[in-house]
Amino acid sequence: MIKITAVLLLVLLHPSAVMAQGAEDEDVDLYNGRDINGVCAACHGELGQGSKNGEYPRLAGQIRSILLRQLYSFRDRKRINLPMIPYTDPRELSDEDILDVASYLSSLRIDVTIPYVEGDVAAGKKFFASECGSCHGAEGRGKEREGESEKFGPALTGQYPLYLTRQIANFKTGKRHHEEMEETARDLTEEELTNILAYLVTLERHPGLAEEVAQETQKRFKSILGSLNQTIEAPIPEEKPLAPPPLE
Ligand code: HEC
Ligand code: HEC
Repeated sequence: MIKITAVLLLVLLHPSAVMAQGAEDEDVDLYNGRDINGVCAACHGELGQGSKNGEYPRLAGQIRSILLRQLYSFRDRKRINLPMIPYTDPRELSDEDILDVASYLSSLRIDVTIPYVEGDVAAGKKFFASECGSCHGAEGRGKEREGESEKFGPALTGQYPLYLTRQIANFKTGKRHHEEMEETARDLTEEELTNILAYLVTLERHPGLAEEVAQETQKRFKSILGSLNQTIEAPIPEEKPLAPPPLE
């Protein structure tokens, strides 16, 4: 994340740096990422905010390496999702585009209100720490790539509970593949999941980015996005609490 911040600074100070050869990060073109996101916005929202009913996941602030991996999985048809197929066709989305749009989305810090889930927060916290934290981080903020690629999980804090529930169901029924998550999901009871979600929604709602990094990022993006005439806040009004989501 700190690396991304450094890249943003570079892009801000030297727009031509985005064309630089060499390290992957120096090739990132956030303007192109933003343009590509125009297409994604039809479903995921203009700022990657997703939708609260969980149909479209939030992408803003998600760890970049996770977004990259998911986009490649969709493109290689390892993760099958009909709505995503036409948008991840290699003719539509090149490697450069994937890097640009993932960098753009991961760097957006937005302010959305995550629906509240009723459950036993203390039990959820304890369970999460012992069963999920090793890969998703103790507070569900996800983990950047650390050695073995299967061991770093997406940020879950700040993601919509109904989307997360559907993914657990997908792992459980083998619709989405990941060895450890399939196992984890099979063992997870509905009550345990509800408690985990109840815990996660009590945490800060900007996934992926540590607060101080997010603030830095926001400052820089304000300058970049300000000149592109775009805002970075996407507040969604608070809603009535949701009933615990069903596990199917
Ligand atoms: C027609 C609607 C639609 C469009 C357009 C669309 N998506 Fe998606 N996207 C979805 C749906 C639905 C899912 C959830 C898939 C699932 O449930 O497994 C998804 C999932 C994702 C995920 C996985 C997120 C996660 O947390 O695992 C990423 C990343 C993503 N989309 C990126 C993009 C990008 C980038 C674009 C534009 C190039 C895009 N999407 C365009 C519908 C869409
Ligand atoms: C061994 C590591 C590991 C453990 C333990 C683990 N996860 Fe995961 N989890 C992952 C990885 C890696 C992914 C991303 C899989 C992929 O790339 O498709 C993931 C994905 C998910 C997703 C889908 C998120 C999204 O954005 O699409 C959910 C929900 C989830 N995990 C919940 C949990 C919960 C709840 C627990 C504990 C009960 C848990 N995980 C334990 C590694 C782990």
